[in-house]
Amino acid sequence: MTVNGEAVHYRLDPETPLLWALRDASNLTGTKHGCDSGECGACTVIVDGRATLSCMISIASLEGAQVTTIEGLSSGLKHPVQQAWIAEQVTQCGYCEPGFIMAIAALLQASPKPSEEAIAALPNICRCGSYSRIRRAINLAAASTAPAKADVSPTHRLIPLSSAEAQSPGQ
Ligand code: FES
Ligand code: FES
Repeated sequence: MTVNGEAVHYRLDPETPLLWALRDASNLTGTKHGCDSGECGACTVIVDGRATLSCMISIASLEGAQVTTIEGLSSGLKHPVQQAWIAEQVTQCGYCEPGFIMAIAALLQASPKPSEEAIAALPNICRCGSYSRIRRAINLAAASTAPAKADVSPTHRLIPLSSAEAQSPGQ
């Protein structure tokens, strides 16, 4: 497969989840290990233009795939979503950040002006409850230059971004 523009041949058990190939074999530790069960979105990367939960897909199914991780999204944090993230001071602990940014980048590539429903459908969870700032960052990124990469649509299940927002005190 290709990871962040470089050809990679993993000599691992073919059933190894992409998450662990990236983190352990490629030392791309920006992709985070959260629930390990497709629930949190911390492990989101972009595979062939689609937001993908890397804990849920084995490397056996990715022969020839184009994989982009947070490390490959841009140089110098220049991607519009990264810029918006900084501008809106979204970061708290930062653990959800790479997965969220990759999911949003994929969303905006597929739909530069995403609907409220599409934003609410992002599967990612922020345990620090930064949902209001995340929402502002999405709006800011959408209002700026269209993201450069991927023709994507998020593949994951629904996430209660809007309902979680309502539960976030002080946001
Ligand atoms: S670690 Fe993959 S969805 Fe949580
Ligand atoms: S900033 Fe801490 S989990 Fe989102």
